[in-house]
Amino acid sequence: MLILVIGQGAREHAITHTLLRDPDVQVICAPGNPGIAQIAQIEPVNPTDALAVVALAKKHNPDLVVIGPEAPLVAGVADELRNADFVVFGPSQAAAALEGSKAFAKEIMIAAGVPTAAASYCVDLDKVAIALDLYGAPYVVKDDGLAAGKGVVVTDDRAEALRHAFACIDSRDGGAVVIEEYLDGPEVSLFGVSDGKTIVALTPAQDFKRVGNNDAGPNTGGMGAYSPLPWAPENFVTEVMKTVLQPTIDEMNRRGIPFSGLLFAGLAITSRGVRVIEFNARFGDPETQVVLARLKSSLSELLFAAATGELASLPELSWKSEAAVTVVMAAQGYPDSPVTGAIISGIAETPKSGTMVYHAGTKTNEHGELQVNGGRVLSVTALGADLNDARSEVYSEIERIRFDGEHHRSDIALKAALGEIRLGDRN
Ligand code: AMP
Ligand code: GLY
Repeated sequence: MLILVIGQGAREHAITHTLLRDPDVQVICAPGNPGIAQIAQIEPVNPTDALAVVALAKKHNPDLVVIGPEAPLVAGVADELRNADFVVFGPSQAAAALEGSKAFAKEIMIAAGVPTAAASYCVDLDKVAIALDLYGAPYVVKDDGLAAGKGVVVTDDRAEALRHAFACIDSRDGGAVVIEEYLDGPEVSLFGVSDGKTIVALTPAQDFKRVGNNDAGPNTGGMGAYSPLPWAPENFVTEVMKTVLQPTIDEMNRRGIPFSGLLFAGLAITSRGVRVIEFNARFGDPETQVVLARLKSSLSELLFAAATGELASLPELSWKSEAAVTVVMAAQGYPDSPVTGAIISGIAETPKSGTMVYHAGTKTNEHGELQVNGGRVLSVTALGADLNDARSEVYSEIERIRFDGEHHRSDIALKAALGEIRLGDRN
């Protein structure tokens, strides 16, 4: 089977790596990155340029196209590919609004009876002020549109909340914010693979959103992740399937906007039960790195079955009992203003079995050296007998890799490994 993967991050590197475990699979990745180029053919293309992506698909005629990032989905690239008769894993533009518009996501959740934070949609500052006082501190202010995980401010400082709201509303025509009730409790990312009718849950993971240890500093796209979650409530996945994933898929169907692709539920386990923080319409990054590391079943069969409406006939997924941890190595200045250009050294030619160094913001310069080319640079992932073991593997691999200004969190999965997460706490 020939699979075209669209995207260029560590998530697409992990997807490509996992697809290639199936002996009959070949992958072309566009545009890819230097890490992906070591395992698959890469082709330059702008992922949000639908015409260019369709032209590339026509050139290679893949059996399946897998779209990684949200931007092409929200830009309608899946629709254009389907119009040209390609089999696609990824939702239509209309269905991707579950991620692209926080207001639409809220509307669907309310209609489907899915538990989520109470929220107000605001297009002017007077309404913002009223909503902030309605829900009280900590204040949660979200840009309504796509913001790569950085459009949300959670703060006790009312003036900062107002400043962020003003910046979002003012940033473009139709700018708007959603002000929300604060959700306490640890966060979990749960992915569901859907063919539009049936949805299959993957194994849950936890992401670390803040840039610094102990959740200090600003939000990022994600600094690390681990799976499994030894502290998660019993029947957690069954419960979320019943209260969140299936009702959302059913509601989208009722509206004639079937969601086919990956439905990512960002959840908070609050003292009052599970609540949806947000939906995404694609695999999470860096959660995918740990979820796929633990997948035993064939990823190509899963994604193909979803893209062709055949999920109901797929056997149940199986998972490794081992634990997986991924840690993001970030560029100096990330997330505010990442500095690019530093030379990267020390990546092993053949890392230890079970350890993967996924590339995100890297490029190869004219001398063949690897250079920093983005905020999140590498996502180092390891399997181990348990979380402690996976943590030692991942951090010993990181020790070997160097670039100027590099920073990473040293506490990924630490509390979970020490058994220190209790329901009712933050991360
Ligand atoms: P989002 O882009 O909606 O996922 O938000 C990014 C991060 O902001 C989440 O992962 C949470 O850590 C935090 N956050 C978002 N909404 C809330 C909320 N209602 N209560 C508490 N924290 C939140
Ligand atoms: N790591 C969170 C996300 O992919 O949005």
